[in-house]
Amino acid sequence: MTNKKNNKAVWNTRIKKKTSSLFQRIGSSLAIDKQLYKEDIVGSKAHVEMLFKQKIISFKIKNKIIYGLDKIEKEIKNNKFIFKNEYEDIHMSIEKRLHEIIGEEAGYLHIARSRNDQVITDFKLWMKVSTIKINDEIDKLIKSIIKLAEKNIDTIMPGFTHLKNAQAVSFAHYLMAYIEMFNRDKIRYNNNLDFLNENPLGVGALTGTSFNIDREFTTKKLKFKKPTNNSIDTVSDRDFVLDFLYSSSVCSMHISRIAEELIIWNSDGFNLINLSDQVVTGSSIMPQKKNPDLLEFLRGKTGQSYGDLFSMLTILKGLPMSYFKDLQDDKKLVFSSYDNIINSLKILNEVITNLSPNKKNMLTLAEKGYILATDLADYLTKNHSISFREAYDLTATIVNYAEKNQKNLNELTLDELKKFDSNFNKEVLKIFNLKNSINSKKSFGGTAFSNIKKMIVKYKKIL
Ligand code: ARG
Repeated sequence: MTNKKNNKAVWNTRIKKKTSSLFQRIGSSLAIDKQLYKEDIVGSKAHVEMLFKQKIISFKIKNKIIYGLDKIEKEIKNNKFIFKNEYEDIHMSIEKRLHEIIGEEAGYLHIARSRNDQVITDFKLWMKVSTIKINDEIDKLIKSIIKLAEKNIDTIMPGFTHLKNAQAVSFAHYLMAYIEMFNRDKIRYNNNLDFLNENPLGVGALTGTSFNIDREFTTKKLKFKKPTNNSIDTVSDRDFVLDFLYSSSVCSMHISRIAEELIIWNSDGFNLINLSDQVVTGSSIMPQKKNPDLLEFLRGKTGQSYGDLFSMLTILKGLPMSYFKDLQDDKKLVFSSYDNIINSLKILNEVITNLSPNKKNMLTLAEKGYILATDLADYLTKNHSISFREAYDLTATIVNYAEKNQKNLNELTLDELKKFDSNFNKEVLKIFNLKNSINSKKSFGGTAFSNIKKMIVKYKKIL
């Protein structure tokens, strides 16, 4: 191949006309997949090492190629590499540059390889590292939540169902619920590693190769766990992309639910938490405003994650085997979801670190809405030899009475209670205490302070 020829597309002998310039511009994935340059070079190096070991290329050629690839890596790192859109993607760009540096022998690099297996090898390598980076970020967030929970074990607030006061809880228990969500996200991301650890390299365009290659060798070199089983499936499969986008969508959905909850608690109607000035913004016209913009941003960003997932699902629907250009967009979607989730996790961490509960308001709100009614029904079931349904009815009658007389349950006298059931004695009055209520929920996973402390210890050990 002459140097003049190197400036043209590799298929130039077969395809006589230049590709449509519009398509060349918008069909090029280079602007996106140049992010994969390191993985592309690592993959190529493993590939030529294998070709040499299998006696498919000589020692000299192998070394020349590796020398060129190392040089290219440095050029890209130091912003010296000229990315040309006519080379379509990072794989072509590196191969062409290699030819410029070492000449004809660059042509040996693509023996027993296609861009179809090359691109997913690069992509899987990138996704393995990125998955671990996301989980590190989740760990940091969990640590911040634990810190806040530790300080708030005995901070009492109303737990809600339907956003109506339901039963008393510890604020720390609420926070520990968020940790469960993020812990599941971590496990979900980790589970994706199984498929990411299957090595695609060596399946070629779609059928494998007649060269005597060693896929176990590249598997080890690139720290995969095993080679993929079927060459056609390998170049067609983007399930691992869906897994990543789904995991990111679920994580993003968790972030959005928490963001919405914190927005509600920060509203003037609830006023249960304070956000520091670092995580609010002002208004251009209303001088008094402190708006929870960061949380709103997080809530909204879920749309982007879902969009990425739905785009990929739609690209794959009805797509026959094996490689099609449709698949090229997979990287744009994954990179977008990755940036989104990493930034969202970092922002939420900042919000949590700069958040304090408004303990007085939490307590005041917990005293409204008869949130100890279930405790009374439980007490009656345990101590008055009646069924839970009977106790529920009796409690509802007492709540109706209290509401009509504008009293809280703890403001009812024993004499008043006795009108509903003569068996009442002064023991019942202990029931009308928020802290006692919380601490009575000792069942595994319940909100009792002792349970929360144990959970905090458990998570601290895991991290
Ligand atoms: N840039 C392409 C992509 O990202 C690489 C694979 C191209 N393969 C092909 N036969 N056109 O999907």
